[in-house]
Amino acid sequence: MRSSTTVLFWIFLLCSGRLSLAVATAPRLSRSVVHEKRDHIPPEWSHSRKHHPTAVLPLRFALAQSNIHAMDEFVNDVAHPESPYYGKHWTAAQVAAKFSPSHDTVQTVRDWLSESGFAPERIHVKKTKSWIELNATVEEAERLLNAEYYVYKHASGKEHVACKSYHLPAHVAPHVDLVMPTVHFDTIVHRGLDSPPVNRYERVTRGLGMPGAGFRSSKMTPTVPILKNQLEHCDEQITPECLRALYGIDYTPIATEINTIGIFEATPQAFIASDIDEFAKYYAPDIHGKRPMLVSIDGGLVQTLHQGPNFTAESNLDITYAMALLTGKQNISLYQVGDIPEGASFNNFLDALDMSYCDFEGGDDPTVDGIYPDERPGGYKGKDCGTVKPANVISVSYDMNEADVSAAYAARQCAEYAKLALMGTTMLFASGDGGVASINGTCLDADGSLSVHGKRFSPSLPSICPYVTSVGATQVNPGSTVHQPESSANFSGGGFSDFIPMPEYQKNAVHSYLKNHPPAYPQHTFNRTGRAYPDVGANGVNLSLFIQGVHRLVAGTSASTPIVAAIITLINDARLAAGKSPVGFINTAIYSPQFADAFNDITDGHNPGCGTGGFNATEGWDPVSGLGTPKFGTLLKKFLELP
Ligand SMILES: *[C@@H]1O[C@H](CO)[C@@H](O)[C@H](O)[C@H]1NC(C)=O
Ligand SMILES: *[C@@H]1O[C@H](CO)[C@@H](O)[C@H](O)[C@H]1NC(C)=O
Ligand SMILES: *[C@@H]1O[C@H](CO)[C@@H](O)[C@H](O)[C@H]1NC(C)=O
Ligand SMILES: *[C@@H]1O[C@H](CO)[C@@H](O)[C@H](O)[C@H]1NC(C)=O
Ligand SMILES: *[C@@H]1O[C@H](CO)[C@@H](O)[C@H](O)[C@H]1NC(C)=O
Ligand SMILES: *[C@@H]1O[C@H](CO)[C@@H](O)[C@H](O)[C@H]1NC(C)=O
Ligand SMILES: *[C@@H]1O[C@H](CO)[C@@H](O)[C@H](O)[C@H]1NC(C)=O
Ligand SMILES: *[C@@H]1O[C@H](CO)[C@@H](O)[C@H](O)[C@H]1NC(C)=O
Repeated sequence: MRSSTTVLFWIFLLCSGRLSLAVATAPRLSRSVVHEKRDHIPPEWSHSRKHHPTAVLPLRFALAQSNIHAMDEFVNDVAHPESPYYGKHWTAAQVAAKFSPSHDTVQTVRDWLSESGFAPERIHVKKTKSWIELNATVEEAERLLNAEYYVYKHASGKEHVACKSYHLPAHVAPHVDLVMPTVHFDTIVHRGLDSPPVNRYERVTRGLGMPGAGFRSSKMTPTVPILKNQLEHCDEQITPECLRALYGIDYTPIATEINTIGIFEATPQAFIASDIDEFAKYYAPDIHGKRPMLVSIDGGLVQTLHQGPNFTAESNLDITYAMALLTGKQNISLYQVGDIPEGASFNNFLDALDMSYCDFEGGDDPTVDGIYPDERPGGYKGKDCGTVKPANVISVSYDMNEADVSAAYAARQCAEYAKLALMGTTMLFASGDGGVASINGTCLDADGSLSVHGKRFSPSLPSICPYVTSVGATQVNPGSTVHQPESSANFSGGGFSDFIPMPEYQKNAVHSYLKNHPPAYPQHTFNRTGRAYPDVGANGVNLSLFIQGVHRLVAGTSASTPIVAAIITLINDARLAAGKSPVGFINTAIYSPQFADAFNDITDGHNPGCGTGGFNATEGWDPVSGLGTPKFGTLLKKFLELP
């Protein structure tokens, strides 16, 4: 009681403080506050001249989303095993309505613009309500935003209009995320044919699908013989039969007409159809002749120009294992994202899944994302916004470094995964193959940048997003059978976010790890309060695979992810067959006490990097193997018990 009284008292003080301020200034014209400012011009740009007062600027006001702060509560409602609304996922329309800028937000900004002298017919509210657009002369914009516009010149000769800072009235500021064009330089590296192309290799993502970006050829053997009696050799070669035995997968799907699963692949990665058939011949006869259903996004195509392992091992692995575990009965969708010149990013994929994301907060960032339409020769001349209905389960065996993006960029993307969670999609991401280090073995310096001398652990994106499920890799130890415990693979990505706080659902598990097995590292080595990952593990070492007709063994969290995706898809099948919903976001359930015995605890192994041994796998959750590997039967039973 005492504390709530205190809180009320403070609210009263704040309100009265605000009131007196409003009275002290002219009605409606509240104090002007700096909304954004830039301290330095980016490299290779120089100040050129003051912009001409009568030039026209296409001003865009990104309106603040409603209700984002209540996201945890919304997701808990549909995903917590004790919630009466478990499985009652939202429709896309409900999501759009809940988060789209409020009437009050739209009205406040519109009123301010009218009061500033802009005729109503000049003020255009986008259909999604995410933006207000207005063509203003430089003179008008400078008065409106209390800013000064300059023309900047790039070393390449390209020009860009920007200001150093801008202001908004205090009562408008909370309703606007940002205004463009203002201080931002990221919108200009427009790759028209007239400017030197910033090609995909120069983006920080290096193009998600580019050779060496995700799956590494070092994790692949030369050709190996095909062994008979597979179950006796699972310590040498993993096949679908080994995986079924390891995790107790014994289920034939029946609700295949209504169930869906999608596998994300970034162009130029491409699968080879004849390799699926070759695999089928030895390990999965019922998928012979089956193909994934191609869903092309932003010109995504299964290219056949480059067919070496660097371009095909990833897709072959993801698609073959998902198909084999799901049997020939369940179709899978292939989300092939990006054209050849521009490639793909996670944001390009999310743009296709959600129309409103495409349009929100300035959209894609050319330093990270593919920019469409792609005007280069052979480029995709469209941009896919909201063209794809998300599958019940989406498996993504790609990752990037948290340190490659800004905190705001990560937060925006994570909020989008949360919306997919609300709509009932299980998003599974590989936890990365660098252990506690980044994809290429670099770690963080004190200033947060990646370098070969860095000492601080480098977290992986999107695994650090709270509403995705992150999957680490495990292995059958040499000499062991499928009936003995696996250990974690030494490349299995794991750690703690520097951007995103630890979500409620994992606090008990992670705190008990930190308390009972305190990692012997200085405080600054990793962030003990950040979102911790991975959430689960699955086999990722020595998987049999055909690549260009050659039988090889491959390793990576890339393998573990489609395995878990297939398991969740089978569970969805059983729930759908029982007239229930798909499971959607699973973490709230699997970290809860009800699911305590649904995973094989992995207590052996570690994930070295950054000049350290990394974290140790231990009893209970750990940042190498998560909660452990799935026990299919138990998971199926537990999830079927839920409403
Ligand atoms: C701004 O001007 C451009 C070019 O004339 C036009 O296409 C666009 O519709 C205008 N936008 C608004 C909001 O008036
Ligand atoms: C595959 O990619 C790796 C890493 O980028 C590179 O070192 C290797 O030479 C490539 N192999 C082929 C055959 O292109
Ligand atoms: C599954 O894929 C096959 C071949 O691509 C297609 O003919 C069939 O209609 C698909 N089934 C469903 C339920 O989508
Ligand atoms: C590692 O990747 C980062 C980008 O993520 C890049 O800046 C850096 O040059 C790479 N370092 C090495 C040693 O390859
Ligand atoms: C994987 O395969 C390699 C080479 O075939 C073998 O030496 C190793 O024991 C296998 N298992 C693991 C866990 O590395
Ligand atoms: C990981 O284990 C493999 C063998 O399974 C070994 O070759 C490799 O050196 C180990 N890597 C690290 C970083 O310890
Ligand atoms: C640790 O994570 C929290 C979010 O939980 C963040 O606010 C904080 O800045 C992070 N600390 C460091 C040193 O990165
Ligand atoms: C992991 O376990 C080893 C052996 O018990 C120990 O020496 C090491 O300090 C542990 N690592 C961490 C990070 O706690």
